[in-house]
Amino acid sequence: MSTTTTAVTPSVTTMEVFMNKTKADDDNVSEQVRLEDQHETVLYAMGGKALYAPVDLAKPGLRILDSACANGRWIKDLQAISPAKHEYVGTDVVESLYPNPAPEGTRFLDQSIKEPFPPEWNETFDVVHQRLVMAAAGPERTPDFVVKNLEGLLKEGGWLQMVEVATVPLPQNPTSQNQYLDMLDTLYANLYTGTAYKRSNLWSDLGKEMEAAGLKNVQKKEVIVSYGAAVADPYIRERSLRTAVAGVPNFLSVLRKMPGDVWKSEWDDLASRLYDDLKEKGGYTTYIVTWGQK
Ligand SMILES: C[S@@+](CC[C@H](N)C(=O)[O-])C[C@H]1O[C@@H](n2cnc3c(N)ncnc32)[C@H](O)[C@@H]1O
Repeated sequence: MSTTTTAVTPSVTTMEVFMNKTKADDDNVSEQVRLEDQHETVLYAMGGKALYAPVDLAKPGLRILDSACANGRWIKDLQAISPAKHEYVGTDVVESLYPNPAPEGTRFLDQSIKEPFPPEWNETFDVVHQRLVMAAAGPERTPDFVVKNLEGLLKEGGWLQMVEVATVPLPQNPTSQNQYLDMLDTLYANLYTGTAYKRSNLWSDLGKEMEAAGLKNVQKKEVIVSYGAAVADPYIRERSLRTAVAGVPNFLSVLRKMPGDVWKSEWDDLASRLYDDLKEKGGYTTYIVTWGQK
């Protein structure tokens, strides 16, 4: 792998470098598969509940936004379990990821989490959801901007739910058994701390930002997501293995370009070692779900 490419600087987030690479590689075809696998693995761990916020989906006509929706898979699953018809909007910055044509009842539009939403959207949504995108916000935008931006979209009584991954290795992953998953956690921590918010555990306190933005009934749940041998369901087991390793080469190539002495030689071959380890022994990581009401 080359080490002479452009260094990652704080003006370009690691996620943007990652996104440019997946676009250049194959116009996001493999990235779509990784995102689908990730979605299914996480949703399984969440007991099939796309929303922890206590939203009454039986009440028809809700306006529901998925911010940074990628291919709209979260919307698709929520639509499938909703007993009533709702209006769904997905926003992202990569148009080629959107389902085309958009399924009935859905719309997909470009909108960065770093920019104010159109003023006419203010206070028009019953539900706003955003998952795995805070890494893209910095350094221009801090979590309080992103949370306040999303909060502004909610009607009175509406719910904001945000989901992010923690980067602290779990005690369930003792080094002797899951050293490669722990390495992946270390890798994520290196990717995002220092570049975005200098936090040791990424975005685990979005609840504080939600409260500061004026939301009430704020709650947080840590969800243990299982991989490989730790997953009972064979369909999800396979997908969890694929998603755990699929992004690793891209993350590694971003890390190799980072300034400073962050590269660890033990990350060479991480993807294949991680795959074998998880397949044989399984492993766990933590997702943090936070929700609050306007
Ligand atoms: C890790 S993926 C998560 C996708 C989806 N939320 C999910 O959980 O399956 C990150 C997504 O954030 C999008 N993204 C990156 N930077 C963004 C920005 N500034 N504003 C909005 N979306 C962004 C990417 O295009 C990608 O779809």
